[in-house]
Amino acid sequence: MTLRATVKGVGHYLPERIVENAEFEKTLETNDAWIRSRSGIERRHFAAEGETTSMMAAHAARAALADAGLEADDLDAIVLATSTADLTFPSAATMVQAHLGMTGGFAFDVQAVCAGFVYALSNANALILSGQARRVMVIGAETFSKIMDWTDRSTCVLFGDGAGALLLEATEGNGTPEDRGILSTDLHSDGRHRDLLYVDGGVSTGTSGHLRMQGNQVFRHAVEKLASTASTAMERAGVSADDVDWIVPHQANIRIIQGTAKKMNIGMERVVVTVQDHGNTSAASIPLALSVGYGRGQIKPGDLIVTEAIGGGLAWGAVVLRW
Ligand code: UT7
Repeated sequence: MTLRATVKGVGHYLPERIVENAEFEKTLETNDAWIRSRSGIERRHFAAEGETTSMMAAHAARAALADAGLEADDLDAIVLATSTADLTFPSAATMVQAHLGMTGGFAFDVQAVCAGFVYALSNANALILSGQARRVMVIGAETFSKIMDWTDRSTCVLFGDGAGALLLEATEGNGTPEDRGILSTDLHSDGRHRDLLYVDGGVSTGTSGHLRMQGNQVFRHAVEKLASTASTAMERAGVSADDVDWIVPHQANIRIIQGTAKKMNIGMERVVVTVQDHGNTSAASIPLALSVGYGRGQIKPGDLIVTEAIGGGLAWGAVVLRW
């Protein structure tokens, strides 16, 4: 028997306020056609004043608990991927723990920017496989609207806010690719590229700062690194492109999503796409896409899923799982 970290529940939360591309035309030299054609984004959600990452994460976690038919006290751990924690510390994960009324177990944040959710899944998988936890709530949640420079048209039109959560539970499989649960993970980072995407604030500046990105430089790395990490993870899982039911990619740019799928020899009819409605929600984008894809009836029990993401660091990685 082989221990597996298997999906027991999924949920998401999007803040109420929806901002269409056209709204940026009022304050910036930009237009809907540019944003759509360069990124695939049509609209995004922005958190309300006072609405924080931990609040959105807690909403998503409650939805995943309800989907699984479980209570907060049934969890052993919360792993929250975010780059926009409410405060420098404590972790947003401990705040989620308090919001949920969970008094046992442990909670911590994972910071790998847009790759955060694949890092968090990998950490949660390791906790389950090592016997340190049986049920882990893995969340991606971000309020990137709080770190935008609203005068920088090359970044502020691209990002959005939201949260998604997956509840993982230890189950026993046969050790084959037919098992449900996480089948493989693959993580990478290369700090030489840290200046391509960063926030110019933090404890060293005494400010929370704004996001800075050389978008076209990040783009140059994206497709190749994403296809490569996905390929490594698939090889490790013992599956091929033909076996894959869905790619659920990080939703930064439709052109990156299409380029990566093409390099993986997988048609766009097997890709879950939400970038048009959510924009780039960093670590929240994959769990949001998993939850929306499940809700649309695209993802079904037994489906083989490849997730892949890249972002600031650069940090990137992929996870292969059977739903
Ligand atoms: O999630 C974390 C990882 N991040 C990503 O994966 C993002 C990766 N990068 C991208 O998605 C794309 O590079 C962008 C969508 C950010 C930009 O698309 P691009 O095709 O790489 O455009 P570009 O940056 O090369 O800019 C092309 C032109 C420039 O004008 P010039 O220099 O050619 O005259 C920009 O000044 O578009 C201009 N531009 C805009 N024009 C209208 C930049 N932003 C805007 C804008 N509206 N909002």
